[in-house]
Amino acid sequence: MRGQLTWGIVFFTPSHAHKQITVFDTTLRDGEQTPGISFTLEQKVEIARQLSDIGVHAIEAGFPASSEAEEKTVARICALNLDTKICGLARMLKSDIDVCKRAGTDMVHVFIPTSEVQRVHTIKKSPEEVLEITAATVAYAREQFDEVMFSAMDATRTEWGYLIEAFRTAVNAGATIINVPDTVGVITPCAMRELITRIAAEVPIPIDVHCHNDFGLAVANTLAAVEGGASQVQVTVNGLGERAGNADLAETVMGCESIYGIKTGIDTPRLVETSRLVSRYSGISIPPIQPIVGDNAFAHESGIHSHGVIACTATFEPGILTPEMVGHRRRLKLGKHVGRHAVRQMLTDAHIQVGEQELDEIVIRVKEVSGRGKKITDADLYEIAGSVLGTDVGERAVELIDIAIMTGNHAIPTASVRAIVNGVEHIHSAVGNGPVDAAMKAIVGILPTPITLKDFNIEAISGGSDAIGHVTITVEDAKGRIFDASASGDDIVLASAQAMVNAINLLHRVAKE
Ligand code: KIV
Ligand code: ZN
Repeated sequence: MRGQLTWGIVFFTPSHAHKQITVFDTTLRDGEQTPGISFTLEQKVEIARQLSDIGVHAIEAGFPASSEAEEKTVARICALNLDTKICGLARMLKSDIDVCKRAGTDMVHVFIPTSEVQRVHTIKKSPEEVLEITAATVAYAREQFDEVMFSAMDATRTEWGYLIEAFRTAVNAGATIINVPDTVGVITPCAMRELITRIAAEVPIPIDVHCHNDFGLAVANTLAAVEGGASQVQVTVNGLGERAGNADLAETVMGCESIYGIKTGIDTPRLVETSRLVSRYSGISIPPIQPIVGDNAFAHESGIHSHGVIACTATFEPGILTPEMVGHRRRLKLGKHVGRHAVRQMLTDAHIQVGEQELDEIVIRVKEVSGRGKKITDADLYEIAGSVLGTDVGERAVELIDIAIMTGNHAIPTASVRAIVNGVEHIHSAVGNGPVDAAMKAIVGILPTPITLKDFNIEAISGGSDAIGHVTITVEDAKGRIFDASASGDDIVLASAQAMVNAINLLHRVAKE
């Protein structure tokens, strides 16, 4: 055991664990098997580039034999010549392996079920037949590829003696790495660590692990496998995958790096950006409480926590995990639990000076408003401060005069904006992926300095098709300052445009001070 003292806690890296592990990402294969997800070819290319850029060791680009389109996609990713190995998935069929070869993958991942329930009900083969197929197909795969990964599908529900026989058969036939899939996510961390330790004692080649999240244990089980001696982890961005998904890339990588001090080779400050890219393309939003990459991962609202974090960030954050490490930001949030320290800090950051009594009054009003269930943005705080201080925070750099939007099933969504910016009238048009996107781009286009939309959230306040939409957006200016603002209305495009204008006016006000 190796110990590391961090803020009084000793973390141990078990002696079985490797000092460096590799990351095998299957977002484009198991991740795309998430019900309802289908990436376009261009999206897959972009995701593959991103994964390669951040240092993922191998990418499972797809299952080329599943369709002609899939083969083409995998071939296109192979042709990118990325700095990462491209792997194709194949059943125990020579024809599947041939398709991977034709697509140009660097390695092949062959799999066959070994558990009784799957042998009997999915492939209808005897244990002996499974071993024969494994020996013949792995040998064939090895003639075609220098690297062959063998997966004993449903390994964690396979009887121990038979599992080891299957792995030995694959090793003798030329497999270069074995994968231990927890196909239906049923193992526990203690059992996984023990299983991998025992396999490592029997099998002389590297061990990879592939965990599903049916009981919410995919990351814990993956880390336990690393404790037991696995040298490669299979992950997906945002934990996408069959049913409840796979082990999440960011959580697994940061667990290895920060808890155990095991190197993964991943450029961790790009984890948040990677998660957002895949969230956008998959259409699955990142829950605010998602570890590492979620909006709230480094956000603090309650008075005690905010006060602690202002004094020393490690008070209410892990310390061994910081927002900088993963490309995130620490934020103090307003809500009914907010305290004086956080409010003072946020006002000071916006160059608003308040006395003790004024601060008390602002905190009371913030608590009152959020106690009625309203989400309070930075813009709301400055409005409240302005009314308590009796100063004009209503002065507006941008005033929206007109906005016209054209959209339809055959038209490219286009928005034209007429607005007064610092007293001068400006007109600007832009196209977008949808009417809201076009409106946002048209508004940003009239500004003298760039701002970036970081986050966009819309909630329906009432039910029905005439619901009031409440739009909250987060923007960042060129100096890296982040603010949120909101607006409501029965037309969500107009509410979005107004939220953007509110955010711009807020930035202008803060920049002026
Ligand atoms: O979950 C699983 O068993 C798989 C295999 C193909 C490795 O995805
Ligand atoms: Zn899987």
